[in-house]
Amino acid sequence: MAATAVNAAVSLPATKSSNLRSNATVFPEKVSFSKGLVCSRNVRGGGKVLSIRAVSTEAEATPAIAPKAHKKNEEGVIVNKFKPKDPYVGKCLLNSKITADDAPGETWHMVFSTEGEVPYREGQSIGIIADGVDKNGKPHKLRLYSIASSALGDFGDSKTVSLCVKRLIYTNEQGETVKGVCSNFLCDLKPGADVKITGPVGKEMLMPVDPNATVIMLATGTGIAPFRSFLWKMFFEKHEDYKFNGLAWLFLGVPTSSSLLYKDEFTKMQERAPENFKVDYAISREQANEAGEKMYIQTRMAQYAEELWELLKKDNTFVYMCGLKGMEKGIDDIMAGLAARDGIDWVEHKRTLKKAEQWNVEVY
Ligand SMILES: Cc1cc2nc3c(=O)[nH]c(=O)nc-3n(C[C@H](O)[C@H](O)[C@H](O)COP(=O)(O)OP(=O)(O)OC[C@H]3O[C@@H](n4cnc5c(N)ncnc54)[C@H](O)[C@@H]3O)c2cc1C
Ligand SMILES: NC(=O)c1ccc[n+]([C@@H]2O[C@H](COP(=O)([O-])OP(=O)(O)OC[C@H]3O[C@@H](n4cnc5c(N)ncnc54)[C@H](OP(=O)(O)O)[C@@H]3O)[C@@H](O)[C@H]2O)c1
Repeated sequence: MAATAVNAAVSLPATKSSNLRSNATVFPEKVSFSKGLVCSRNVRGGGKVLSIRAVSTEAEATPAIAPKAHKKNEEGVIVNKFKPKDPYVGKCLLNSKITADDAPGETWHMVFSTEGEVPYREGQSIGIIADGVDKNGKPHKLRLYSIASSALGDFGDSKTVSLCVKRLIYTNEQGETVKGVCSNFLCDLKPGADVKITGPVGKEMLMPVDPNATVIMLATGTGIAPFRSFLWKMFFEKHEDYKFNGLAWLFLGVPTSSSLLYKDEFTKMQERAPENFKVDYAISREQANEAGEKMYIQTRMAQYAEELWELLKKDNTFVYMCGLKGMEKGIDDIMAGLAARDGIDWVEHKRTLKKAEQWNVEVY
């Protein structure tokens, strides 16, 4: 399997008012960032994966039970190469705020070097161990983050991994401002700083094998991370053994238009593949439906209810959900109503879809 990143011409910040603007352009030979960091890479050598298969001989007995043929791309997936006691130490190459200054909260896009040592797939996560110690003087526990880059990475050389991280700041019951340990560590990282990485982990969110699949992606906030990774592979890269020719449909829920994530990239993808990529935003604090209800992701989906239900009847339709825990119930409620119209019990049907790897959920 060989692959190259093609002319992605991507700008990361979502809006004009975003201050730490950093335009990334991915070309086969060179990636440059306007914040001063310039990296040249030989991407021709990148992305090669050797898959080794056992060759059966006549002397071998035929197995009684054939192994399950996965619909998702699970062959050769590596998990837990790096454990908390001996993490991989990468370097921060880029860290850029991608929400506007007037957005409620900050989200950052960051790129770490891996030198190809952290071999991840689209849909996996990594662990990060923040520098410093906790209140008991022990090293901080790892926090998980969904990988936001394709396996080729943002520089197209399979030597980086990217994250999309929301800075957690809240007021506790005593009225004190509390900063989340790891998200603040990550959002404050400067280029050149070390970062301790564990994993990769997770198989739930791996992409479908079928390049003609319908892939419905449901994200709230930073839950967009795995889908950016899918979509780069689908629309910004060339792979010898994978050319996406199905339908990718992204629903993204955010509080305000100033907190939309990676919008410029998605617009570019739509320009490139209008037949293959649809995107719908649910901007909860600015939009409402006809009944005046807040526009959550499930409210936006409800506007396409019939179409979504028809798509779900195909056995090569795959739904992925990522982000806030609360979204799962809202989406279930919509699906239950649609299923009931056809006399189908949604709970039962969802179980079947999950078994077939067609209903995939990672929410926290
Ligand atoms: C599989 C997986 C993937 C993830 N991917 C991402 C991702 O891609 N991007 C991302 O940004 N995050 C992601 N997360 C969340 C991430 O792991 C961390 O939980 C998050 O960044 C907060 O960690 P922290 O160290 O900053 O906060 P911590 O220091 O761990 O503090 C968090 C704790 O603060 C408390 N708290 C939080 N909010 C409030 C509040 N409003 N009021 C009172 N108490 C509160 C809760 O007790 C909470 O457990 C993912 C989580 C999982 C499990
Ligand atoms: N792999 C994973 O499991 C994974 C990966 C990435 C992120 N995450 C988690 O996902 C969450 C993302 O949070 P964020 O701060 O980045 O998001 P955010 O920017 O606050 O956006 C979340 C959006 O979802 C809306 N929302 C709130 N409750 C909802 C509900 N019940 N149903 C549907 N939509 C709802 C919010 O609306 P209002 O605020 O206007 O109510 C807002 O528009 C975090 O908790 C993070 O830990 C998990």
